[in-house]
Amino acid sequence: MAIAVRAVQFDLPASIDRHWISGSPFKTHLFNSLHLTLPAVEHWMIRHVKSRLKYITADPLRQNVRGFVLQEAQHAEQHARFGQILRQQGYELKACLQMEDWLLASLQRLDWRLNLAAIAGMEHLTVLLSEVVLHSDLLAAAEPTLKAMLEWHAIEEIEHKSVAYEVLQTVSQNYLLRVAGLAIGCAFVLGLLNRCTLTLLHQDRCLWRWAAWREMGQFWLTKEKMLLRTVPHCFWYLQPNFHPAAHG
Ligand SMILES: [Fe+2]
Ligand SMILES: [Fe+2]
Repeated sequence: MAIAVRAVQFDLPASIDRHWISGSPFKTHLFNSLHLTLPAVEHWMIRHVKSRLKYITADPLRQNVRGFVLQEAQHAEQHARFGQILRQQGYELKACLQMEDWLLASLQRLDWRLNLAAIAGMEHLTVLLSEVVLHSDLLAAAEPTLKAMLEWHAIEEIEHKSVAYEVLQTVSQNYLLRVAGLAIGCAFVLGLLNRCTLTLLHQDRCLWRWAAWREMGQFWLTKEKMLLRTVPHCFWYLQPNFHPAAHG
């Protein structure tokens, strides 16, 4: 099925509650961190995947690469407006953005095939986060426009989940490259997301509140179980005959 490119524009409300996910500082800053860091990551993905387009002549992958690029460009555009909102709320974003720039610049210095493998690995992790966004009650009491934006993004991530992996396969089917890409993807996502979440919690003077740590534990270990679910999700990626489309 072709990847649909939808023209969307989310009209963000003039004022957004400081803790826009059910009054929870942890959940809010976790997703604030995503809003903040996604644009640069998605532009990096677009650059690498798009650079392979001239070598891919067969459909449907060629069409799907185009769909991937257009979807990710729209995601980046919609999330980019959120940085300004956080600045208006008084957050200093330099530390998070500098860490992200440094990580992306470090990746850029590596072989382009490894960058592509890291993108395929990250896209695999994105599927897991998308499932949590769509199927848990994590965002049940979130600000409606921001909730809709995240759900739209999650749906499109699931829609294009095979593209980066299939592009990687046209370049190299080296198993070690795939494993290295997943390892880099996990380190990048977990490192950046946690660093930014803790930084924003600290600036919000909520870092040492028991509720924030309890919700952090619930998200990673006991309720949404993201960390526990990441382990089998990664093992599945490491199966020799893995393909993203095999997962429902
Ligand atoms: Fe995206
Ligand atoms: Fe994606």
